Amino acid sequence: MIDKIKQLLKEVENFQITNKETMESLRLKYLSKKGILTDLFAEFKNVPNDQKKSFGQAINTLKNLVENKIKDAQEQLDNQNSAYAIYGDLTRPGFAQNIGGRHPISLVKNQVIDIFSSIGFNVSEGPEIEDDWHNFEALNFPAHHPARDMQDTFFVQTNPEYLLRTHTSSVQVRYMENNQPPIRTISPGRVFRNEAISSRSHCIFHQVEGLYIDKDVSFADLKQTLLYFTKEMFGKSKIRLRPSYFPFTEPSAEVDVYWGLKTETDYRITKGTGWLEIMGCGMVDPNVLKASNINPEEYSGFAFGMGLERMAMLLYQIGDIRMYFENDVRFLEQFKSNF
Ligand code: DAH
Repeated sequence: MIDKIKQLLKEVENFQITNKETMESLRLKYLSKKGILTDLFAEFKNVPNDQKKSFGQAINTLKNLVENKIKDAQEQLDNQNSAYAIYGDLTRPGFAQNIGGRHPISLVKNQVIDIFSSIGFNVSEGPEIEDDWHNFEALNFPAHHPARDMQDTFFVQTNPEYLLRTHTSSVQVRYMENNQPPIRTISPGRVFRNEAISSRSHCIFHQVEGLYIDKDVSFADLKQTLLYFTKEMFGKSKIRLRPSYFPFTEPSAEVDVYWGLKTETDYRITKGTGWLEIMGCGMVDPNVLKASNINPEEYSGFAFGMGLERMAMLLYQIGDIRMYFENDVRFLEQFKSNF
């Protein structure tokens, strides 16, 4: 008899409850009125007195085992349907969503685009691998101009007719080839120069080129356009134009913005003068118009070019140009909130 109960204990132990149905079948088999335990309790009367104790203990062990097993299974089944089982701990704080942010160069580029869009400029682009014509020749670079020197330009080794553009002025030429005046366009893009990398200069950087061609465009138009830009971009309303030289403009100028001398940083970045150089500009040289089949007798225009790295350095107080290209998240994360 005891052996039979021991076998039943094993059977119950090994019984797998996988769902409500298997749980119910275990209950019916052992605990129902016609179940095994009812029979065993009925047999208890016929057990000889000296065996009653061990027999009774064995039946109770079996009964507890079945009952506990069913109770545990019931709890587990209940849990499976609970919110806890589905969603986990609902009081747990949420996981922070790590949102991305724009690169500071993109932020500044978009700002420049917004400002010039608001006064009628469109956005144009050109290739980063350029030919000699668009990067130099059509921009009135004399044949032996030092900027063509191997020092500055990355030429394509297998065909030095091609090079990595050294400035976005090449897009001016492409735009004039394909569009008739009036022209108002800005061309943001990446440029390349064979320069030693330091905190101040890099072999890859970004420029925005501007070109405005129409009838009777004057130097005053250029100055007012740039003044509007510096007001919008930096909130500064004083600029000065210093005479300079670029092959593709005549006259040419460098634009300084009056930054002020209020803080120690102002002193540092303006070297104590209060003035900061922000771009080059000038009236488009007639030779450049001719090279792109625009009649300089009929049309005139102005052009300007600025470096985005430098502008972002000023706006965000970035001390080292190399940071733009390192993609260190600790640097990039600081610009998340800008837009
Ligand atoms: N291309 C010049 C540079 O790389 C910048 C520049 C100066 C562009 C004067 C212009 C300009 O359009 O008129 O430094």
